[in-house]
Amino acid sequence: MPDQSRITLKCVKCGKVYPWSFSVQCADCNNALIDIDYDLSKARIGREGPMMERYFDFLPLTRREFMIDGGEGNTPCVHSRELGKALGFSNLYSKMETANPTRTTKDRQGTMAVAALRDLGISRFITSSTGNSCTSLARIVSRFPDMHMSIFVGDEFLKRVNWVDAPNVDVYWLKNGTFVEAHQAARWWSNKTGDSSERGFFFFGKREALKIAYMEAVEQVPKPIEYYVQGISSAMGVYSTWKASYQMKEIGLVERIPGMICVQEETCNPMVRGWERGQEQMSPEDVIRYPRGLSKSTLRGDPSMVFTYVRHAVADSGGTMLTASQDDMREMKKLAMDTEGMDICHTAAMTLAGIRTLLKQGWLKPDAVLLLNMTGADRVGAAHAMPKFVVERDEVDEWRVTPFEGGSVEGALDRVERVLVESQKLPGDVELDTETWLLGKGLALDSVALLEFSLALEKEFEFEVTEEELNYENFRTVGSVADLFRSKMADHALKRNG
Ligand SMILES: Cc1ncc(COP(=O)(O)O)c(C=O)c1O
Ligand SMILES: [Zn+2]
Repeated sequence: MPDQSRITLKCVKCGKVYPWSFSVQCADCNNALIDIDYDLSKARIGREGPMMERYFDFLPLTRREFMIDGGEGNTPCVHSRELGKALGFSNLYSKMETANPTRTTKDRQGTMAVAALRDLGISRFITSSTGNSCTSLARIVSRFPDMHMSIFVGDEFLKRVNWVDAPNVDVYWLKNGTFVEAHQAARWWSNKTGDSSERGFFFFGKREALKIAYMEAVEQVPKPIEYYVQGISSAMGVYSTWKASYQMKEIGLVERIPGMICVQEETCNPMVRGWERGQEQMSPEDVIRYPRGLSKSTLRGDPSMVFTYVRHAVADSGGTMLTASQDDMREMKKLAMDTEGMDICHTAAMTLAGIRTLLKQGWLKPDAVLLLNMTGADRVGAAHAMPKFVVERDEVDEWRVTPFEGGSVEGALDRVERVLVESQKLPGDVELDTETWLLGKGLALDSVALLEFSLALEKEFEFEVTEEELNYENFRTVGSVADLFRSKMADHALKRNG
């Protein structure tokens, strides 16, 4: 029997209580968040065992039989003395979420979301992601043959879907599309098929698991945690951690609510822009329409639906939001490795860039007790899933879905990179990213080299590059060139069909 007595689903705006169901937004309140509260009067944290068992009393499940042990959680939390010294901090603690099975904190989310969906009786769902969350979800879904998951992924992100050969996980590949378009196509497919979308931030099953990293750390850090620092996308981790700190306070395990410090990258910082504006809502001007960045897991350009909730949590906690520069992120990723042998992704490196800036500004003191969530590491060289379907623009029905017939999985970005290496005779092992600058800094191509590159691109893609298009905006970085050709291909597909 489901036991709903300890869980309340409640609209944060009007307070309307919903029964245990996949209700995530309040229909009466313009889709306000339906949050989850727990009766903690009998709550306790288990001393050992899998994450979901230890923290069952704090997680959204009505029946123990739906608990899943995916081997996630119980990650180390280390006092990073050398790294701290290099940055000027004496109490820097790193929660090593990289120790999770697929190397990111999203593994907590993978198990929790699947367990909650099963408890709710939902067996089919659709997701889109830049790699981490869908890899974590696919890993758990593959254990349950009665479930089915469809992943929509933009061209360059296929290689970040690192769960392979699951018969009940289908990958829909936008071979010439960005992850923003993958998100749009996923929504379209959900409307068409009736399969649920997993709803990201709004789904308590996804949100609630992330707080457990902090809850574990409360017992691992020998001093009261003063600040929680995270690289954010929609800031599910921060929001649920903030809630968790009140839950820990309620059961007497913490006295103070840590300040929530959120860091975003300079090329994709919509939340920070909203924060600096100082209002309840983000302005449309804060939205980043075509985000790119080194931090692949935080490329959400439009978090306006969730901004209010996150802003409230950060403000209530006495925290802040700030931007990290790409140069700093590169430097911090290396510093973490050089000082502590810590292998982290650029998203996690943003936390270090953020605290260094806050120390310089005098916002943080050198002896502040900081918990940095090292949310992930790159899965370098891991095998990736193959597409089951290819999704392309279509004039008649928005998108066209066709079976993947095998062959190359080179996306638009890969092709641009290959042409760049060949036309400029770059060494085969050169590290290229969407963020590699072609002009000014980075590769610093001169006008002759640029012309050669554009001619080679014309040949590869069979599109002309006009004189006006050969400008600084289009050719600034590898990623901007890929976007130029994606848009050319989309225009062409629309004309052809229309
Ligand atoms: C490694 C990593 N760090 C941070 C984040 C951002 O998490 P949040 O949803 O809390 O903004 C993600 C999201 O996918 C991630 O994969
Ligand atoms: Zn409501």
